[in-house]
Amino acid sequence: MRRVLVTGGAGFIGSHFARHLLCTYPDYRVTVLDALTYAGSLSNIADLMSDPRFAFYHGDVRDPVVVRNLVRNHDWVVNFAAETHVDRSILNPGSFLQTDVYGVYVLLEACREFGSRRFLQVSTDEVYGEVLEGFATEEAPLRPRSPYSASKASAELLVQAYHTTYGLDTVITRGSNTYGPNQYPEKMIPLFITNALEDRPLPLYGDGSQVRDWIYVEDHCVAIDTVLHHGESGGVYNIGAGNLLKNREVAEKIVEILGKSVSLIQSVADRPGHDRRYAVDTSRLRQMRWSPRWRFEDGLRHTVEWYRSHSEWWKEIKSKKEYQQFASQWYHGRAPVTPGQEE
Ligand code: DAU
Repeated sequence: MRRVLVTGGAGFIGSHFARHLLCTYPDYRVTVLDALTYAGSLSNIADLMSDPRFAFYHGDVRDPVVVRNLVRNHDWVVNFAAETHVDRSILNPGSFLQTDVYGVYVLLEACREFGSRRFLQVSTDEVYGEVLEGFATEEAPLRPRSPYSASKASAELLVQAYHTTYGLDTVITRGSNTYGPNQYPEKMIPLFITNALEDRPLPLYGDGSQVRDWIYVEDHCVAIDTVLHHGESGGVYNIGAGNLLKNREVAEKIVEILGKSVSLIQSVADRPGHDRRYAVDTSRLRQMRWSPRWRFEDGLRHTVEWYRSHSEWWKEIKSKKEYQQFASQWYHGRAPVTPGQEE
């Protein structure tokens, strides 16, 4: 029997990962620790609650008492707990430093205190900054450019320092843009799907030519599982499916699947410091016999269908004051612009 603590497990990728562990390993016990901030929800793990191998704990990774009590009773810790939305980090960097850096410190301290426990830090391909050409290997320098990615890069350095200094058994994954069911509708794909379903504009930043590498959430979870079980201690692993697409192409596919008009896609003022391209070299992970199972077109169709048939899930989120406050603060004044004529 193995006991795995999944922090941030009521969020998007974390909840899929907790479910993946329980479905894949009958003898595992999984505990989710989640602060249930705006992006975490018990509805994401409602189906797991009755499983005797599963436990949920409401708490914050910044709280050393809570974290110590849980870490001492688990073999492995997989840390998804984080503020993750780049746009929010531009409005409010402080909460990113608090959770994404200080929270990792609290977790690492508990792992250090209770001996050798594998600690997996879920990081991001954004730590490389924009990769204008080619593909970043794990040895590429870290050049984060947003408060979000700078926080995640800082956390990584802390994790590496605990591995080097205290011999802690750590692994780091750097995942690319992930999509699928249950993703909070502030990220581009769920925002665009739900806006299109409501016949509302799809706000495309700048000229929409920025490139992201899209991976379906289940493929991302299997990749994390592979690194958790087989990753070399102290190792870093890129995760990406090689679906490099321009944002405009993704937006066009969404309206096409939904049978809506492309006129819903509206260019708006760009995100400050917007990274133009991310692309990671995933040879290291592929050598561990991982490869993505989902083609982007299939994953996107599946995701669109999920949002179409779960309107109560995202309509409830979108009707909340918190969501509307962020949306009006961020998008208000981002009036439609003609591509190429932005400031
Ligand atoms: O690359 C991995 C990262 O992917 C994760 O570490 C982050 O947590 C996750 O938020 C995501 O970061 P991005 O900034 O790439 O994701 P987002 O969905 O916010 O944006 C994807 C692209 O779409 C990006 O180029 C900005 C653009 N975009 C986004 C929004 C929300 C728009 O054009 N309009 C929008 O309204």
